[in-house]
Amino acid sequence: MKVLITGAGGQVGLELITHLLARGDTVCATDLKERPAAAPADVPWRHLDVTDPAAVHALVQQEQPDSIFHLAAILSATGEQMPNVAYRVNQTGTYNVLEACRQVGVRQLIFTSTIAAFGPGLPDLVPNDVPMRPSTMYGVTKVAGELLGEYYHQKWDLDFRCVRYPGLISAGVPGGGTSDYALHMYTDGIKRGHYESFCHADTRIPLMYMPDAIRALVDLAAAPRERLKRCVYNIAAMSPTAAEIAESVRSAVPDVDLTFCSDPHRQAILDSWPRALDDGVARDEWGWHHEYDLDAMTAHLVPEVRKMIEHGLL
Ligand SMILES: NC(=O)c1ccc[n+]([C@@H]2O[C@H](COP(=O)([O-])OP(=O)(O)OC[C@H]3O[C@@H](n4cnc5c(N)ncnc54)[C@H](O)[C@@H]3O)[C@@H](O)[C@H]2O)c1
Repeated sequence: MKVLITGAGGQVGLELITHLLARGDTVCATDLKERPAAAPADVPWRHLDVTDPAAVHALVQQEQPDSIFHLAAILSATGEQMPNVAYRVNQTGTYNVLEACRQVGVRQLIFTSTIAAFGPGLPDLVPNDVPMRPSTMYGVTKVAGELLGEYYHQKWDLDFRCVRYPGLISAGVPGGGTSDYALHMYTDGIKRGHYESFCHADTRIPLMYMPDAIRALVDLAAAPRERLKRCVYNIAAMSPTAAEIAESVRSAVPDVDLTFCSDPHRQAILDSWPRALDDGVARDEWGWHHEYDLDAMTAHLVPEVRKMIEHGLL
């Protein structure tokens, strides 16, 4: 299968490339930025700015992919600093990719939405299908992406599939999300011996370890369409408090000093997010399941972070 990835140079994209190459797909990696050092050397790397409709159309026309994994985005924290850029990349960029799919006849589009798409005032365990009233530009543009994708599915028969990711954690440099405090407890905690989280100790949001997040995308893309009753799915793995994450890091890195000092802007974003997602629909319709809980993630992640620090990558 031939797959084109937008935003391939980010935290998710780099891991996804490796996974898709390993299963034998032909991958065309695209991003606004140059090929990162961590990208596999044998993957073709093409410059693509998703805000440029002509460039998106031309590249999709030239590559003729069976499937596009559209990851390019400005994440929540950066998006609140530059809402105009977040609008252009997340909203106009997604429209441009959908239009290129329609015009060129790409069969499938995989999209990554987020817990930030929900907005405040929902039950602690948020169901798959609820009214969505996000309060950040990131959330607003991601809901719009979900709805546009559903529209293209109904109107043009595009096989649009989407996961709502929790905050993602991997041994890499985080991309400007408001869940980054969780990863920094591991990376700064191991590298510098200390880290002060920008949230309260009792902040609780849904999180997921990257191997589960990559498997979710690939499994959803491969699920038989007739089993899917919708286009957009909550997926979940764990919902620890920041204090529980700190405790898990301490169990593996005993001398680490982890403290909390809430930043009002980022705390407000975190407080507007769900505390946990109900992913029963994804489990029923395409067999989604997570493999990593908090302690399983810590056991796997700590050696990975140490390796990256040794190689000068963190
Ligand atoms: N990381 C998380 O915790 C998380 C959580 C929920 C959803 N998501 C979603 O998953 C997807 C991937 O996230 P990530 O963590 O890899 O983000 P990231 O910030 O690490 O990567 C995003 C990539 O998009 C690229 N990009 C930015 N503007 C672009 C443009 N105009 N044209 C083309 N590329 C552009 C960036 O260069 C970057 O490589 C995003 O859609 C994000 O919204 C991520």
